[in-house]
Amino acid sequence: MRLVQCVVIALLSLTPPCDLQLPTLMDQPQIMDSLRLANILMERPVEGPSIRKECRMLNTTDFQRIVNAINRAKLDTRVRPNVHDAYSFLHAHPEVNRGAHGGPAFLPYHRVFIFLYEKLLRIYDRGISLCYWDTTVEPENMQWSSAWTPELFGNVQGSVTTGFARNWVTPIHTLERFGATQGRPMNDEDVKTILSKNRLGEISMPAASVDANVELMHNFVHTYVGGIMGQVETAAYDPIFWFHHTYIDCIYEQFRDKQKQNGVQPMRDWPAEHGDSAHAPFAPMRIGSLRNIDGAQEFFSKEIVRCEPLPACTEDSQCGAYMRCNRDKRKCIADTMKPPEQAAGGWSSVDNILSSVWRNRLSSINNPLTGSSFGFGSIFHQPEIFRFSNSG
Ligand SMILES: *[C@@H]1O[C@H](CO)[C@@H](O)[C@H](O)[C@H]1NC(C)=O
Repeated sequence: MRLVQCVVIALLSLTPPCDLQLPTLMDQPQIMDSLRLANILMERPVEGPSIRKECRMLNTTDFQRIVNAINRAKLDTRVRPNVHDAYSFLHAHPEVNRGAHGGPAFLPYHRVFIFLYEKLLRIYDRGISLCYWDTTVEPENMQWSSAWTPELFGNVQGSVTTGFARNWVTPIHTLERFGATQGRPMNDEDVKTILSKNRLGEISMPAASVDANVELMHNFVHTYVGGIMGQVETAAYDPIFWFHHTYIDCIYEQFRDKQKQNGVQPMRDWPAEHGDSAHAPFAPMRIGSLRNIDGAQEFFSKEIVRCEPLPACTEDSQCGAYMRCNRDKRKCIADTMKPPEQAAGGWSSVDNILSSVWRNRLSSINNPLTGSSFGFGSIFHQPEIFRFSNSG
């Protein structure tokens, strides 16, 4: 009864849903359901441009609207196991995601993937746009970043028990993160190097140099959050996935702007050396009837994507409630929380011990959805193993 009441409250209001007793097990997603859902989303009208800000620049109301819509999708069981995870499953399925990673279709694919996800969220709240998570503002010791407060993304160590995704269960197991053990956030130098290039092939696998490889930089962030986010097959079940990819999409848009200034038409720019045939420009994206090149269309730049950059600040007050101004760099940077020995109620050493137990457990899990699994980290260390088999 309490569950029913909570769902009704969650569906009818913009206030955060009350703490639900979420299921501890769920049906496995079915790929036909997920593809059908993607088709439905393709056909839905576009509700206007997407105005994308750094999540920490939104006021509480605007951020709550986004995460409430995410939670409604998570509670909506019109599709197995729920709308959120059915859609995320597209990223998990080896037959469907073949052009998503390891080549030049990476940026166009994920552009479409988050565009449809945003349409999905707009089923629940028409007025919202995704926000982005800019990891270049993270402090050196990112595990103390304000990003991990309950008001933003929730904790980054172990099972997620704070924030809007607290106690989430994914089709694999409880939502878990093992932050700051591997990988790294992106930095200003990464972005500068990427934007200094002029061709998609120069920033994409397989030909990009290591320092200009946007997919590789993005992999580091996946690995940095770790847990569910650290594996290709599970990453999209952690809602921070969408904020991370919205940022990558903003970099893509900046890159395209620069291309156009330099006389390169993004729609005509596809590297001859694209590696796997799934990365050919006219290969099917496996979302609706789209081809990879369709994700590079001007439609998105003209109609959809508006990224509001962080201000070149001089005052803390310009940087929202969770960042402050580094006046030398004229850049907003994330506030840090106090380390646990100083903060009451911070993470205890017990948490650290537990998180290493979880880490060991996770590394022994063979993803039941796709058979063998590989992490974003292993793409980096052994690029040659990054091949999808035809049989999955
Ligand atoms: C939050 O920001 C939006 C603009 O994005 C504004 O319309 C709204 O009034 C603000 N709400 C509060 C409570 O400040």
